[in-house]
Amino acid sequence: MEIVKKIKAKARESVRRIVLPEGDEPRTMEAARIVREEGVAEPILLTADLIASAENRHRLDSYASALYELRKAKGLSKEAAARLAADPMYYGMMMVKQGDADGLVSGAVHSTGDMLRPALQTIKTAPGMKLVSSAFLLESPLAKFGESGLLVLADCVVNPCPNAEELANIAVATANTARALCDFDEPRVAMLSFSSKGSAEHPLVDKVREATSIAHALAPDLLVDGELQLDAALVPEVAALKAAGSPVAGRANVLIFPDLQSGNIGYKIAQRLGGAACFAVLQGLASPCNDLSRGCSVDDIVNTIAATAVQVR
Ligand code: ACO
Repeated sequence: MEIVKKIKAKARESVRRIVLPEGDEPRTMEAARIVREEGVAEPILLTADLIASAENRHRLDSYASALYELRKAKGLSKEAAARLAADPMYYGMMMVKQGDADGLVSGAVHSTGDMLRPALQTIKTAPGMKLVSSAFLLESPLAKFGESGLLVLADCVVNPCPNAEELANIAVATANTARALCDFDEPRVAMLSFSSKGSAEHPLVDKVREATSIAHALAPDLLVDGELQLDAALVPEVAALKAAGSPVAGRANVLIFPDLQSGNIGYKIAQRLGGAACFAVLQGLASPCNDLSRGCSVDDIVNTIAATAVQVR
């Protein structure tokens, strides 16, 4: 992907420590070798043996008590915190939380939920952010769409049924990710629906309209418009018919899906039937943690490590 070259170049400007909790997984080990060799990041490979070693005792104890303090109000006991801290996923999260690593990448072995839940419980949201969501960087072979074929899509991974306020938060966060990772000077955000500007009436459409006005209030300078069908968002001729005068329709470069079913199905259609290349990052966490697909390649892991490094504030 072209965007990956740019992200890697940015990552090299300031080499970040990225912890890899699946440190004995062969693709992860190879990706760690490559990012170190290319100067993209300083990888930290974790294994259960390394965590349990006598030399590491002090650090493990300190992460266990920090984890206990973080989660005791939620009913976590000291014994359970000690057990969890010895798990590479939680240990890696605590490294990031305590400033011993800058970011985390995992998911070659673990499911999305198994990686997300510890991140949500420990790293939590960034100041001012209410919600963690995901953004897909998608490169279409059709350069006429987005920015020379590059679009940013959300949320295709995390929030099953966002309400209007959550959807607005996702829209604003995704515009920020488009600026930070993709250098979009002008994110143009389409709030997607099966209706364009009142062509259909339904409570699901009302949610997207409400989300659009909340997004306007949250980010008055952001170009965001809805509700729009996908063709009205992307195709100028359709936009002229269905949403004349919209500042976004026909030239959207950020697409916000109304829920996780449409988002997850939507990106997979673009990928499998449309030949688009894509990868996802999480947004809204206090420190960057990113998930992989269990079918990921070594390159996918390298790319995600690079993006994670660039997301470090
Ligand atoms: N943003 C911020 N915090 C959140 C969010 C969110 N989006 N979702 C949950 N939380 C917080 C909760 O407030 C809670 O915090 P607390 O324990 O401090 O009170 C904590 O995270 C855990 O929340 P739960 O409700 O117990 O967790 P849940 O079981 O709902 O899991 C999860 C959350 C994992 C994100 C869930 O929503 C999920 O499974 N989402 C779908 C993931 C998925 O399968 N995606 C599709 C496949 S991925 C792909 O195709 C690339």
